[in-house]
Amino acid sequence: MDLLEAAKRVRENAHAPYSGFKVGAAIRAASGRIYAGCNVENASYPEGSCAEAGAIAAMVAAGETRIAEAVVIADSPQPVSPCGGCRQRLAEFAGPQMRVTMVTLDGQRRTATMEELLPFAFGQDHMKRG
Ligand code: THU
Repeated sequence: MDLLEAAKRVRENAHAPYSGFKVGAAIRAASGRIYAGCNVENASYPEGSCAEAGAIAAMVAAGETRIAEAVVIADSPQPVSPCGGCRQRLAEFAGPQMRVTMVTLDGQRRTATMEELLPFAFGQDHMKRG
């Protein structure tokens, strides 16, 4: 199964009764294995989580820490780009050239690099002193 197919498929499992906006994310890790996640909302709204967060959690739980490529899909008028928090989550496990492809259910696509999505990103190097 390819990344897009994985994202499309997992999106169907999204739990989004409050927003009605289902999102699917799939990550190809350094090993080539694919990890997928969907948004999981909660009656206590701030407790909901994004699709990207679910895919990243699955990757880390499987023992991997490097994202080679990512796809995000939603039924939106234009390709949905990851929220600010998810850009930071992706950046934790990706280099600046990692490509994120954003897709709509009707087939529109847009690809951006991690660096384009999160320029001047905060990272662990900022916490190092002299
Ligand atoms: N959402 C994601 O899962 N990923 C994104 O990149 C954008 C937003 C979810 C969160 C919430 O469940 C719903 O979309 C509406 O914001």
